[in-house]
Amino acid sequence: LPLALAAAVIGYLLGSIPFGLVLTRASGLGDVRNIGSGNIGATNVLRTGNKKLAAATLLLDALKASVAAWIMTYFAGEEAGIIAGFFAFIGHLFPVWIGFKGGKGVATYIGTLLGIAPVMVLLFGAVWLAVAFSTRYSSLSALVAMLVIPVALWMLGAEKVAAVMAIMSAISYYRHKANISRLLSGTESKIGAKG
Ligand code: G3P
Repeated sequence: LPLALAAAVIGYLLGSIPFGLVLTRASGLGDVRNIGSGNIGATNVLRTGNKKLAAATLLLDALKASVAAWIMTYFAGEEAGIIAGFFAFIGHLFPVWIGFKGGKGVATYIGTLLGIAPVMVLLFGAVWLAVAFSTRYSSLSALVAMLVIPVALWMLGAEKVAAVMAIMSAISYYRHKANISRLLSGTESKIGAKG
C-alpha cells in the first residue's frame, strides 16, 4: 500500500503541471484560458498561432505521465507504474494549482499509454491522424481514438490495462461534453481555425 500511495502522489504531482498554461505565459502570450475553447491543452495552444508551443505542450503534457509511469515501474513494478500513469492523468484534469480546473487529458492519456502499453501509442496515433485528416476535428479524433484503445487492449488480452484506459476514456469523454455538443450541432472549431 505505501508504494501504491507513493505512485499516486508522484503521478498526481507530475500530472498536475499545466504545461500549456506555463508555456503560453512564459512566451508572453498571456493566459491560454482566455482564448478559443478556454482549455489548457495543446489544441487550444495551437489557437494562439504558435505551432511549436502547441507541439511542446503536447509533448510535455504527454511525457509527464510517461515519466511518472516509467519511474514507478522501474522502482516498484508494473502495477505501481499503472497507478502512477493513471494519477498523472487525474492530476492533469484536476490540478490543485489552478483550482482543480484542468484539461481534457488527451495528451496525458497518450503519455500514460506510452508509459504502460507503448505499442498502443502507434494505434492511437493512426486512429487520431485518420480522423483528423478526414474531419479536421481534434476533439473527434481523440474521442474515436479513446474508444478504440480500450477495446483493442481488451481484445489483445491486456484486461487490466484495458480497464484503466477505459476509465480514463470515460472521464475524458465527460470532460469533452461541450465539444460533443458542438460536434453534434456542427459548430466545433476545426484544426487550423482560430476560433
Ligand atoms: O481532443 C482535443 C481536445 O482537448 C479539444 O480541445 O481546445 O478544442 O476544446 P479544445
